[in-house]
Amino acid sequence: MNTRTTRTLAAALSLTAALAISGCSSDSDATGGKPKMTVSGGFMPEPVNEKMAGAFMVIKNDSKTADKLVAVTSPLSDDMQIHETKDQKMQQVPSMDVPANGELKLVRGGNHIMFMGLKNKPKVGEKVTIELRFEKADPVKVELDVKDRTHQAQHTESH
Ligand code: CU
Repeated sequence: MNTRTTRTLAAALSLTAALAISGCSSDSDATGGKPKMTVSGGFMPEPVNEKMAGAFMVIKNDSKTADKLVAVTSPLSDDMQIHETKDQKMQQVPSMDVPANGELKLVRGGNHIMFMGLKNKPKVGEKVTIELRFEKADPVKVELDVKDRTHQAQHTESH
């Protein structure tokens, strides 16, 4: 863990403490606000079959409030899961952190969203809509571009 991550964590922890002290008075911290998420680079590699598909993107939290991705829905599947990859094996997790002033990167070989069972098999060039649900932020609709199976996200920091 680098010092930057440590500092971010410390900030998140002290914020949590501050929120706990202020309790339920909703108008005490109007500037704290709820986090707002922006999503970029969302894509789905064209699925091989109708059993499963992955989704990749970058979820950015520009607020001072840490949040969590807690659920994903899509018209394409009734079983959407959040997966992490450990020792090259993927496993389902109940939620994933989106740090304050930070990003959650969903990338090949790492954290990702998984469609378990597809109602149809999308092809390259089509779009798939999903909705991300967060603990605090409003839900975000994302249009995933269906890309060829070997597609990799661009390594740009520009957005
Ligand atoms: Cu997976």
